[in-house]
Amino acid sequence: MPEHWYREAVVYCCDVETFQDSNGDGVGDFPGLTSRLDYLARLGITCLWLNPIHPTPNRDDGYDVADFYAVDPRLGTLGDFAELLHEAGNRGIRVIIDLVVNHTSDQHPWFQSARKSPDSPYRDWYLWSDKEPEDRYEGMVFPGEQNETWTYDRTAKAWYYHRFYNFMPDLNTANPEVKDEIKRIAAFWVQLGVAGFRMDAAPFVIEASPQQPKDFTFLTDLRSHLQWRQGDSVILAEANVGADEVGEYFGDAGGSANRLHMLFDFALNARLMLALARGDAEPVIDALRDTPKLPEGAQWATFLRNHDEVDLSKLTAEQRADVFAEFGPEKEMQLYDRGIRRRMAPMLGGDRRRIELAYAMQFSLRGSPVIRYGEELGMGEDLSLTGRDAIRTPMQWSPGANAGFSGGKDLVRPVIEQGEYGYPHVNVVSQQQNPRSLLSWFERMIRTLRQCPEVGLGACSVVDVPMPRHVLAHQADQPDRGAMVFLHNLADEDVTVDLSSLGKYAEYPYELLADKDYPPVDDSLSTISLAGYGYRWIRLRDSHGRHTGGQTTRGGLA
Ligand code: GLC
Repeated sequence: MPEHWYREAVVYCCDVETFQDSNGDGVGDFPGLTSRLDYLARLGITCLWLNPIHPTPNRDDGYDVADFYAVDPRLGTLGDFAELLHEAGNRGIRVIIDLVVNHTSDQHPWFQSARKSPDSPYRDWYLWSDKEPEDRYEGMVFPGEQNETWTYDRTAKAWYYHRFYNFMPDLNTANPEVKDEIKRIAAFWVQLGVAGFRMDAAPFVIEASPQQPKDFTFLTDLRSHLQWRQGDSVILAEANVGADEVGEYFGDAGGSANRLHMLFDFALNARLMLALARGDAEPVIDALRDTPKLPEGAQWATFLRNHDEVDLSKLTAEQRADVFAEFGPEKEMQLYDRGIRRRMAPMLGGDRRRIELAYAMQFSLRGSPVIRYGEELGMGEDLSLTGRDAIRTPMQWSPGANAGFSGGKDLVRPVIEQGEYGYPHVNVVSQQQNPRSLLSWFERMIRTLRQCPEVGLGACSVVDVPMPRHVLAHQADQPDRGAMVFLHNLADEDVTVDLSSLGKYAEYPYELLADKDYPPVDDSLSTISLAGYGYRWIRLRDSHGRHTGGQTTRGGLA
């Protein structure tokens, strides 16, 4: 069987600029991040996803790229970046970076050239209109922050198209020269040693404008190009698309995915939020049942929080209202009429049981988990910052000045100091010393997951036995690796469940992780108790046949 490292990966999303400053200029940098790799290795992550690292005017947190072939000097030099890759590799951590090629910054030399003359070699790299387009006010991605998708440029004497902000003109990805350039950019970074990409706004990349058909063959082409350069490089794409389109994005060449390797599971994300808000497992069960069968090698990336708002756009109005009521009741917590600009811990009322439950559920569901930096500490948000910046505050390393993030005075973004999520209370130093802290729990949980390869590699199914609505019981099976059953209780009431129908699959069932000490799992699986907001990860079978290790490893909190 070919090695598919991404299917067993634990991905950590980190913005270099807010992670660790090494030189006191108030901006996180590559040497700072490199110095924290041991922390990440201890946490157990295997892949680091870096938000954009390129030179940028930084008007959209780096997603406005001004040069795809360099690194932002505020973060360090290309040499520093190569050191980071080397040191990460020494610790078994792969690095992927954002590939933001739907658009560029308006400061990018291509756009600067394109706007100056219709004869510029870059003119056709962007989308222009001589007349005011009829759809000028349609399709805004950031309502409230953006009021049009076509903006008039006086120098160009024409209108240019931008799905996002007007300072981020869309590239004309239907132009073969642009497609070649995107392949060159990806190949360049792979040559430097990155393991792949998080592809930004993938549906827009393959659809130059809403009037044009989606060019899925470009994804086939990009993947094949990359894999000739580096066989195990991957593309993890941002594509919040419906179940009917998922197959097209992954591609299917005789049963094997031949386009994107991974897609973020936005549908599951929204349903997880709904399930947590309602204390009801049904939305997750629906999401699992609605998931189309994926071709071999295709993989979901699960997540609870990322660097953007929680996107509830695909829920019904009633469902969305329930999530808002529970997790974002104040107007200032909401964004773009569809999302919430908060982190998990405050959304869950700082209730440790619910935070563990949420993450235990995410990490045990099919796919490869992605976690946003700081979530492992239970960091909060700063609603006094604008838009999505609320959830992009610096990492909280210690109770010392500036949370140990920087020795400087003028920080790229303020650290959270006040209240129960302020760094004097929530920080790495105090949590690492405490075996009962959330951070210690994450370390244990991730280590446990890495002993359960069937989660990433195997089939995930809902256990087909009657359950109270608030209990999610799902299974992961992989013939070579074993089988696990997972129980998660979304309500604050104790419950006992009967899983005896799984008895025929079980060989020596034992618990790997749980919210508290429970009596040992009995072989018949007929009486399994679960506390309010409790969870239990139970191994039914492993790849070693009948073995002896079970009893000694039980108890996730041991
Ligand atoms: C993606 C990113 C978001 C960014 C946008 C434009 O949605 O996740 O942060 O603003 O693309 O690049």
